[in-house]
Amino acid sequence: MRVQCPACRRTYRFPEERLPAKTPFSLKCPACQQVFQFNGQPHSPAPVPLAQIFSPYGEDLKREVTENLKKLYPMPHIMLKARALAANPDADLRQISAILRTDPALASRVLKVANSAFYGRSGKVASLMDAAVLLGVRMLVQIITLVSTSKMLGSELQGFDLDSGRLWRHSLAVAVTSATIATRTGLPLRDEAFMAGLLHDAGKIILNPYVMERKSAYDALRKYHPNTPLMAEQAILGFDHAETGFALCQKWNIPAPQALAIRFHHQPSRSNASPLAYILHLANALTALDAEASAGGLAPPVEAGVLAFLKLGPEDLAGIVTDAADAIETIEDDTY
Ligand SMILES: [Fe+2]
Ligand SMILES: [Fe+2]
Repeated sequence: MRVQCPACRRTYRFPEERLPAKTPFSLKCPACQQVFQFNGQPHSPAPVPLAQIFSPYGEDLKREVTENLKKLYPMPHIMLKARALAANPDADLRQISAILRTDPALASRVLKVANSAFYGRSGKVASLMDAAVLLGVRMLVQIITLVSTSKMLGSELQGFDLDSGRLWRHSLAVAVTSATIATRTGLPLRDEAFMAGLLHDAGKIILNPYVMERKSAYDALRKYHPNTPLMAEQAILGFDHAETGFALCQKWNIPAPQALAIRFHHQPSRSNASPLAYILHLANALTALDAEASAGGLAPPVEAGVLAFLKLGPEDLAGIVTDAADAIETIEDDTY
């Protein structure tokens, strides 16, 4: 008799004589260890709603996660102040140095990054005041964001099988690649693409404890459906890290176009034609995070029509990857 695990969807064949006579009965999935009820009907596994297996689930879990967001993941203090300052047209450049003076270690990392080749001022930025004058307040705020989120993005995420620093390197790579794509397309979105790229997978940090609770089912789903990595997350939680990243953006008051792009970075065709969502999607595919991809397997799936939407040709991709790789190398070591 054919039995399907409702959690990981793996199917098994059981000799009928070994199945209990009385139905329904409980079975334990050998792959994901979930216990589920089987109604004994041949070729028709009992359709147990996933919400019954994983609790809390879907909207209930999303509510719990969102309520915890502000408490557990406040925007880094310095980033908050720097962004408020950048939003004020009368802001005095000296105020930025004053903010950073409260954290000398962070200030010195900001200076290092400001001097990296990515910002085109190698070795010329001697003080924070120089950085503000040479790069402009917006760019300096971008560097402050980069440096102040590196610890959070660099934590180990066992649920998603990401060693310490791995998500950080991927986030930085997607940020730089997104900025490079924006430049290539001629769209005036370089800074926005960088910021959204940096935070695009931040939802994974927040969902990590919940994935850990459901890890065996998650691993089984990843194993049997390697080409659709988001499916595992959606099956065990009822939603995915892009949704949670969007909730974080709302709590952090990240501008709406960037928040929307993060929400749809895996499905840009649902973004109501947001160029930023398409940029993030392409950058993410060019900077694959999955273990399978880095081991020579498949990169995350790319939606059809992405290159056409961005008016890029396949010949542009190699240039984007090379330009971005050079830039990533120059800032990676200085920030984390
Ligand atoms: Fe993602
Ligand atoms: Fe990603």
